[in-house]
Amino acid sequence: MLPKRRRARVGTPGAISSAACFPGVTIYLAEPRMGRSRRAFLTRLALSKGFRVLDAYSSQVTHVVMEQTSAEDAVCWLESRAAPLPPGCASPALLDISWFTESMAAGQPVPVECRHRLEVAVSRKGLPSPVWMLPYACQRPTPLTHHNTSFSEALETLAEAAGFEGSEGRLLSFYRSASVLKALPSPVTALSQLQGLPHFGEHSCRVVQELLEHGVCDEVERVRLSERYQSMKLFTGIFGVGVRTADQWYREGLRTLDDVRKQVQRLTQQQKAGLQHYGDLSRPVQRSDAEALQLVVEAAVGQALPGATVTLAGSFRRGKSQGHDVDFLITHPQEGQEVGLLPRVLCYLKKQGLVLYQQHRRCRDHAHWMRQSHNMDTFESSFCIFRLLRPSGAAVGGPQRPGPAWKAVRVDLVVVPIGQYPFALLGWTGSKHFERELRRFSRTERGLWLNSRGLYDPEQSRETPDPVCHSSETLGGRSASRTPWMPLATECLQA
Ligand code: UTP
Ligand code: MN
Repeated sequence: MLPKRRRARVGTPGAISSAACFPGVTIYLAEPRMGRSRRAFLTRLALSKGFRVLDAYSSQVTHVVMEQTSAEDAVCWLESRAAPLPPGCASPALLDISWFTESMAAGQPVPVECRHRLEVAVSRKGLPSPVWMLPYACQRPTPLTHHNTSFSEALETLAEAAGFEGSEGRLLSFYRSASVLKALPSPVTALSQLQGLPHFGEHSCRVVQELLEHGVCDEVERVRLSERYQSMKLFTGIFGVGVRTADQWYREGLRTLDDVRKQVQRLTQQQKAGLQHYGDLSRPVQRSDAEALQLVVEAAVGQALPGATVTLAGSFRRGKSQGHDVDFLITHPQEGQEVGLLPRVLCYLKKQGLVLYQQHRRCRDHAHWMRQSHNMDTFESSFCIFRLLRPSGAAVGGPQRPGPAWKAVRVDLVVVPIGQYPFALLGWTGSKHFERELRRFSRTERGLWLNSRGLYDPEQSRETPDPVCHSSETLGGRSASRTPWMPLATECLQA
């Protein structure tokens, strides 16, 4: 995947750092499972950060870093390598790649914790055997139904509450630990089963411990019942209201939807529509609703541009039976044909009286977007509220019973040129956590940047890089270029 030029450069024999900034730390990256080019990339990254990295294993090594290696394999590997140690020399720490990536992100060696250590898992004889868990959510399955719902829901409540306070770091930590629990093959019944799991900090452990011991966690209950959490949840549940607006309203003393309605002059058109249809929009959209809407959108798209396709993405594509909205990707097999399609589709739907609200977003300059710190994409799109008619003889989205003739449903329509469609489909399938992890994995582990338009190699850019994300998220000084990077071939997605 890497150009020859780069491969040659990173594979410099005897890659030993010249000026190491951290004298107590000498890293050896063990190649099995890591692969040569990846090892070379990581070596170069560490050297650029001032770490000492040895190309060959020796008694000077203090930190052995391995990837996708079981604890047992790691210990066997060390035993097969280690020559008798000179007196006074300690064995190196056998570490999972998480220690390395965290250290690179921190720009200095982070303290070695239990969860980083590979050998810990083997030496804990008598305890239930730990599950080997890959560190990124995108590396492991996260089934829709899993064994640890009460724990993951509690942690996700704390994540959500952290998000309401603008605390992105805590939000991520709680989402990560919740995600790890979802991947476990069985219910957690003892705290010891969390040992060695990635992203399980002291706070998340405490939550699980309380739930195990008392069936409830005080902190989570307090958050759920708090006026702050309830108001923020209510306000951010209004279409068009984000955390910042909700927080401002809360600080001004607003608590209910009626309080918000009294301030109607301050609301955007989107928020007014959100408030107007709040009842319908706050109830989950059913899969049958999504399928009915797909037929409606397909008819409009087919009429506006024969041959164009409509794909259901978002939570429904992940197999969920309910969602908060319906996401559709629209494309055409011939690149360029899709230009100007969206207004025609919406015009057709409006004439049928099916559009209650719509906000059109034009395709934005991609280079401009690459400089932004958010994950929004730049495709031409429309954020709508549709009128979904009740099928004759049935209530919308439910069993046959008397009810209104229609309901309001949030729909996102996104138009994508066919060349970027695989990336757009991947990006719009979600979940948000999965996408975030996939992008973090690409950046941190592969040195590549992924978004909804492509996979980019920053090394191939022509200009001085310009940061696109917070520096704490940037690894190895890599960042986005002022010009769009060269996208890699679509096949790279399968790598
Ligand atoms: P949604 O917010 O619709 O979430 O975004 P969802 O997973 O379908 O869940 P519910 O049921 O609606 O709540 C769907 C995916 O689209 C991406 C998000 O990252 C998410 O993964 N997305 C959303 C974008 O890529 N760009 C956007 O501008 C908005
Ligand atoms: Mn959705």
